[in-house]
Amino acid sequence: MGALGIALLASTPAAIGADGSGDPAVASEQDGKFFDAQGNPTFKKDADGTVDWYTLSGFRRYHAECHTCHGPAGEGSTYAPALVQSLKTMPYADFQNVVVNGRVNVGGGHENVMPSFGTNPNVMCYLDDIYVYLRARTAGAVDRARPAKNAPKPASFAEAEKACMGH
Ligand code: HEC
Repeated sequence: MGALGIALLASTPAAIGADGSGDPAVASEQDGKFFDAQGNPTFKKDADGTVDWYTLSGFRRYHAECHTCHGPAGEGSTYAPALVQSLKTMPYADFQNVVVNGRVNVGGGHENVMPSFGTNPNVMCYLDDIYVYLRARTAGAVDRARPAKNAPKPASFAEAEKACMGH
């Protein structure tokens, strides 16, 4: 399982620019999964408010694994930073790195710990999804609530999920 994080980082598109958090506009699609011009996963929202499957999936995973520390919908808490602020400048590779490896910040007499999720399939198998959701939040495309309408689960998502979760 330790190889999971490494495999994932190795699959990171090589062409991430100086600011991978940049323009979230959709440049390409692969079976219901959307990418920006730099090849980073991104969200898609239709005129009627329907979001792509990954945004919904990321909403679920964020609330299961991250929101206890990072606050509702990425808005931050007294303990952990607001990810809707972080993602304004944080490239996807850096995001992945912190989530896979964790980070400990000791300062001002207290210790803030971002746990390492590198061996947690409930996070590693959905890292793109969580990032896509937080990108949508950062761009103001979705509010705090669960997206009301979403695209159906793509076949490729179901396959990748099965393989990643080891079923
Ligand atoms: C136990 C509490 C906790 C949980 C759960 C947690 N985090 Fe964190 N996270 C932190 C803390 C504290 C920091 C700040 C660490 C520091 O100051 O170096 C942090 C930092 C981060 C950063 C860096 C932000 C920045 O501006 O540099 C990212 C990205 C991040 N977390 C993503 C996530 C994601 C995604 C999840 C869910 C899979 C998650 N975290 C779950 C506590 C947590």
